Amino acid sequence: MIKNHNVLMLSGKGGVGKSTISAAIALHFALKGKKTLVLSTDPAPSLSNIFGINLSNKISDIKENLYGIEISGDEIIKKWKEKFGNDIYAVMRAFADVDYSIVEYIGTAPGIEEEFMLDYIMKIAKSKNFDIIIWDTAPLGNTLKLLSMPSKFITHLNFATKVYTKFYKKNSTKSIYEIIDEWKVLSEQITKFLKEDVCLMAVCIPENLAVYQTKKLLCEFKEHNITVQKVIINNVIRKDVCDSKFMLKKFEIQKQYIEKIKNGHDDVAEISLFEEITEENLIKISREIFKDEI
Ligand SMILES: Nc1ncnc2c1ncn2[C@@H]1O[C@H](COP(=O)(O)OP(=O)(O)O)[C@@H](O)[C@H]1O
Ligand SMILES: [Mg+2]
Repeated sequence: MIKNHNVLMLSGKGGVGKSTISAAIALHFALKGKKTLVLSTDPAPSLSNIFGINLSNKISDIKENLYGIEISGDEIIKKWKEKFGNDIYAVMRAFADVDYSIVEYIGTAPGIEEEFMLDYIMKIAKSKNFDIIIWDTAPLGNTLKLLSMPSKFITHLNFATKVYTKFYKKNSTKSIYEIIDEWKVLSEQITKFLKEDVCLMAVCIPENLAVYQTKKLLCEFKEHNITVQKVIINNVIRKDVCDSKFMLKKFEIQKQYIEKIKNGHDDVAEISLFEEITEENLIKISREIFKDEI
């Protein structure tokens, strides 16, 4: 399932278990001897809690073969400024009398944060410092926005070039075109990276609303030409642990929703509801995901 992919991305609504399952998958690979990075881009990260260690925006050790990092949008913007700020400044200086708005326009491109978030992750992936990266994403809407960004960004840049040409065609400098071109190339690389290297897994829970949301999610990803490889249904109650009428009823209700989610997707994993999340249970979770696939 993860063949040809070195990034596994977990997407889903808040609270469905993305971070828990990311941690379980990361632990699984680390225990298999793969150099693993678990990375969170959720503004409200929880990997630190799960591993009982303070993760930051710098890659740090969690245990043998396992590394973690939590990065936020603000840090990405900062990195973006470090990377392109000088370019923009150089262009500005070359046009002392130029209206700043054109550079502002480029700098406020829709999704610049998402774009450079993807760039950042792509760079880590391409650096080959890790055998596998497990990416615990922000809740749903943000992820969709993130994934649709490279193509929107390219459109924006094409338009920026047109505006720029219209106003400044008398000028001979090329540097701003070069910068725009560089960004376009970046967007194209990211689009390719998402298609070829990233394996997307959707996490949900067996509830009425979740069935509808998961179907909608799968459609939306499809519209963006991104395939959801695996659907993970979390918090599944097993019949053998039902020791009350209430639990049995809950089990029966879940069963219907699980069938509905399964209907229309071949690769579905069911994760049991545990009393609490311990390292031992994280390993059990990873077994439920991978069975004997890897
Ligand atoms: N299979 C499970 N069994 C028991 N508790 C779970 C399970 N999966 C997640 N949880 C708990 O549910 C809560 C939300 O999970 P979390 O992984 O933080 O969700 P998300 O990252 O999607 O917001 C946490 O308290 C977590 O410990
Ligand atoms: Mg989380």
